[in-house]
Amino acid sequence: MCGIVGYTGTQNAAQVLLNGLTKLEYRGYDSAGIAVVQENSIAISKVTGRIANLRAKTEDGRLIPGLTGIGHTRWATHGAPTDQNAHPHASNDGKFAVVHNGIIENYMELREELTQKGYHFESETDTEVIVHLVEMYYTGDFKRAVMKASARLSGSYALGIVCADVPDTILVVREASPLILGVGIGENFFASDVTALVAHTRNAIYLEDGEFAALTPDAIQVYDCSGHPITKKTSRITWDIQAAEKGGYAHFMLKEIVEQPRAVEATMAPRLRNGQVVLDDLDIDLTGIRKIVITACGSAYYAGCAGKYTIEKLCRIPVTIELASELRYADPLIDEHVLLIVLSQSGETADTIAAMRECQRRGAKALAIVNVVGSTIAKNADYTLYTWAGPEIAVATTKGYTTQLTVLYLFALYAAKSLGTVSCQEYKRLLAALRALPKQMQNVLDMNPGIPKLAEKYHDTPSMFFIGRNTDYAIALEGALKMKEISYIHAESYAAGELKHGTIALIHEGQPVIALCCNEAVTEKTMNNIIEVKARGAEVLAVAFKGNQRIISLADDMIYVPKVDPLLCAVVEIVPLQLLAYHVAKENGCDIDKPKNLAKSVTVE
Ligand code: F6R
Repeated sequence: MCGIVGYTGTQNAAQVLLNGLTKLEYRGYDSAGIAVVQENSIAISKVTGRIANLRAKTEDGRLIPGLTGIGHTRWATHGAPTDQNAHPHASNDGKFAVVHNGIIENYMELREELTQKGYHFESETDTEVIVHLVEMYYTGDFKRAVMKASARLSGSYALGIVCADVPDTILVVREASPLILGVGIGENFFASDVTALVAHTRNAIYLEDGEFAALTPDAIQVYDCSGHPITKKTSRITWDIQAAEKGGYAHFMLKEIVEQPRAVEATMAPRLRNGQVVLDDLDIDLTGIRKIVITACGSAYYAGCAGKYTIEKLCRIPVTIELASELRYADPLIDEHVLLIVLSQSGETADTIAAMRECQRRGAKALAIVNVVGSTIAKNADYTLYTWAGPEIAVATTKGYTTQLTVLYLFALYAAKSLGTVSCQEYKRLLAALRALPKQMQNVLDMNPGIPKLAEKYHDTPSMFFIGRNTDYAIALEGALKMKEISYIHAESYAAGELKHGTIALIHEGQPVIALCCNEAVTEKTMNNIIEVKARGAEVLAVAFKGNQRIISLADDMIYVPKVDPLLCAVVEIVPLQLLAYHVAKENGCDIDKPKNLAKSVTVE
């Protein structure tokens, strides 16, 4: 995920910025840059790749002296990881430079407007519009220009902006993206993450959405969104570096679970415009498509299993879901009438790459849903839709999975509308339901404080069953995978209706069964299965909507989720299962972020 830092004081700014950026390396990035204000100008240095390259290029900052500057590590979203797309971005007159975290949703319109007004763009980024807007509005008052520019932006942003006319000042703006000010003596700092601050100061001011601030070496003045000065509390940072990297959470996995509402929002919001789903990167004629094949590995495959229901139901096109490691050798029935959807967080999974190539060779067009910009799958697919989840550091995927599902939902709605297979009313209803998902994910996080207690009860078991029907079954697959990969407990997911065909033989006194009961069309049926396993002594933990009294009376324990349309439910319903796996693994003392025998990116067959 991108990181930003800024410094104004008496030290060599470039060196402070480089050290700050180094502290943000753990977040993942693919390019980096710094801008230092000099006499009447701004010096910028940027590189693709590591901070070490930037240190080498600037001789550890010595080549660009100056006392005020801003820096950035970029994790590519809009535009490939190149020097040109790296931040900081400069205005055409060279007077301003900006670093930005977040996504500007209306950048296309702004880019068009600015281009018509004669501003030229050097990068493909959404960020560059900001600095040209500031230049456009500047009439000698830096603060006013930044306020006017910010008022034109929609989306999420934490900005650091410098101006050659006011060399000791940095303006920072926050809207839906973290921004923390570090209060020093004769020097001040800002960063997107406290890890970049704690080497210098533990006194911090946390900006709220809509606030902005002016930093000089001797003062920090915070303003509200209308430009009125406000007084903010200075807080003490008590985290050590390790805790700070994890945002205060014990593990990256927990941090990433909690980040999911934001990741899903970031993936979805820029694509919901004027009451419809807009997929700018998908210039595709769907009318000739007879079949959709989804391929992927592991959790990405399970995201496909859940997404299949949504696409089939809305688009009325048959969808098959194939494990990439199988598809590549299956002599598959693929031709130019097949749309292949390839799911991959890393974009580098060897089997998925091979399956995609094989299907493309047979004439299918490949639509990749990928998190890493510029990855092999993104580069080689015919169309790419990015999941803007930010880098995932824990080996077990969480936000990668839920953002893949989010894009599948967006695709299903987009395709159904263009194929005319969804009524106007249903489209509107589902769009509203889609918009509500981040809030509902947050509700799940808030309404289940009892999960650690459940983990205490269920952790000491050699095996677990996860059962459900239809979409609940698809979610059970991922729930069981999460449990086994991080807690090392054998976990098996079963279509609930299949129990009688064999697996019920394994049910005995005390056997934990996690029963997913959120798809109301089949809940009654799953409840019958709960009765059957209970009759054989199973201990049942049910996941259901709050208020379902019958399930409450049947199950031994409950996890509640808010009511969500089954077509969109997986992103919400999986969250408590991720948390359950996390807390069970914690009880069992497992290495949660780096489970044994697993790698984050499986680049070999
Ligand atoms: C499980 C997990 C893996 C990946 C799989 C595919 O938590 O992370 O099962 O989902 O290896 O990886 P990507 O999505 O990078 O292709």
